Amino acid sequence: MRVLYTVLLTLILALPLSAGPRYNIVPTPRSLTEAPGEFTINRNTALVVEDSAFAEIAGDFKAQILSSTGFALEGKGPKIIMRKVDGLGKEEYRLTVTPENILVEATEVNGAFYGLQTLLQLLPEKVYSAKKVRGVKWTVPCCIIEDGPEFWYRGTLFDSGRFFFPKEEVMKFIDLMAMHKQNILHWHLTEDQGWRIQIDKYPRLTQIGAWRKETAWHSGIGNGEPHGGFYTKDDIREVVEYARRRCVTVVPEVEIPGHCTAAIAAYPELSCFPDRHYEVETRWGIWKNLYAPTATTFRFLEDVFTELFELFPSPYYHIGGDEAPKDVYKESQYCQDLMTVLGLEDEEELQTFFVKRMGDFLRKNGKTVIGWDEILDGGALEDPIAMSYRGHAPAVKGIKRGIRVILTPNRWCYLDNQQYDQPDSVAQEIFMPLKKVYNYYPAVDSLATLSKEYIVGYETCLWTEYIWTNEKAEYQAYPRNVAAAEVGWTARANKDWDSFRRRMPKVLGRLRMKDVNYCDAFYDVLFDYNRNLPFPKMMNLELDCPGAEIRYTLDGSEPTKKSPVYSGEPFEVNKGSVIKARGFISGKPIGKTAVKTF
Ligand code: ACM
Repeated sequence: MRVLYTVLLTLILALPLSAGPRYNIVPTPRSLTEAPGEFTINRNTALVVEDSAFAEIAGDFKAQILSSTGFALEGKGPKIIMRKVDGLGKEEYRLTVTPENILVEATEVNGAFYGLQTLLQLLPEKVYSAKKVRGVKWTVPCCIIEDGPEFWYRGTLFDSGRFFFPKEEVMKFIDLMAMHKQNILHWHLTEDQGWRIQIDKYPRLTQIGAWRKETAWHSGIGNGEPHGGFYTKDDIREVVEYARRRCVTVVPEVEIPGHCTAAIAAYPELSCFPDRHYEVETRWGIWKNLYAPTATTFRFLEDVFTELFELFPSPYYHIGGDEAPKDVYKESQYCQDLMTVLGLEDEEELQTFFVKRMGDFLRKNGKTVIGWDEILDGGALEDPIAMSYRGHAPAVKGIKRGIRVILTPNRWCYLDNQQYDQPDSVAQEIFMPLKKVYNYYPAVDSLATLSKEYIVGYETCLWTEYIWTNEKAEYQAYPRNVAAAEVGWTARANKDWDSFRRRMPKVLGRLRMKDVNYCDAFYDVLFDYNRNLPFPKMMNLELDCPGAEIRYTLDGSEPTKKSPVYSGEPFEVNKGSVIKARGFISGKPIGKTAVKTF
């Protein structure tokens, strides 16, 4: 008894330290009014759905609660009420929690869905468990939340072109996005290295185009292992339906006129030189194969899109447009003649002609065209949305011309960038830790007023050149994509890194419940310095470890609670310096020791 009592007492005393904030909602809502007390879900709790419009999402919510808590929400006691009200925006909701009941109010399904996501986050994170968990008190802290997003486009690109990821993995990704209120999966489906989608009229696209004989890494030397795969139409329908139930729109991307080697390998007549031999590309990079601007190609692309219309109800279609060197257009007599006939000045205008032709087709079919920022170069598309990925300059250009833009500047938004400074798996060289993702905001401050009107959203991109498994995909994307979710949803004035980092333990707890292989570096010291300064220059180094005191050594020894404390000021290091650093909270080490040899 005495031992038990001591254990209990220790647990109770430890509680305030580990409890963290009372509300841990990510993304931060527009307004949260705290209130004392809590609502408890137990076997008496009932879910009351007042309007059948919300029945489907209510059913999914019930299933989640049942799987983890074991409660069916069909009791006769305190109620969780879902109410349809007038006057809220499409994605807005109001959530009122009192000890007596919970009220979720929304005008549309999307808002109601987000109300339920917030409610799940207010519960202990074990609510996300796929298996029943015992011994948890399922409480929801009282509050009034009024919420809605800053941007309607809150996306992530998933690149299935470089590597093929089975549909189950794509669906898990969608689930993680939806739980953090991201609403667009931009699905990159065609590439030089693989065509990933079944098209009935052109079977060779997947017979030939979905497979490459090997993969060549940085050095260009192949690994000798064939790679490939594609989504059948049934797979696509399943993914799109899965996304729909989670208020995620799947925007397909079919790249034109470049990044098309896999299609050309399957159908060489789509190229400028049909007699040449083409193979699905095994190396990463920018390749010179382009679709030829011929009647054959336009018929092909129209057929492809026509089959896609059946699969993707999205009003937005992405047509790529990036990284298309014009060598073959210069070399091809046909292209040169066509330019003369059309009165085009140069090959860039030929690309504009091509993209406009396809853009007009999509528009006629009720679709809004999204393209990478190169689509701004030609300027002929009618009311497109441009994705500014080469920094903010393209966004400025687009906004000034009255074109809507989505911001995804690669230094802040590409999830294949390095997030961690320790010996780590291969990634792109740009250093993009969690805090950098969090602190980005999609605005052009020099055009503040226009920016509000023309910047419709923000997207992170999970390019997969260096991501060959789902474990690696999750490692690169999480937890950074949670920070990204807050960037897209939360008003700038409500964004606060310190608040976010205090919510991180719960964020990570939820990701663990979902079996996400996230990068577990949050409590490790990050080394921040100008990576572009070549030695032997001295460099200023800053150390960062959220919420912790940092202690470090310069003699190779393991930092302890007696090692020097980092002052918070930058200090200078020389070539050859070895720094070991670790965070301490209340004298206890957290995370792992971070090591850097300069
Ligand atoms: C891109 O990064 N080429 C869109």
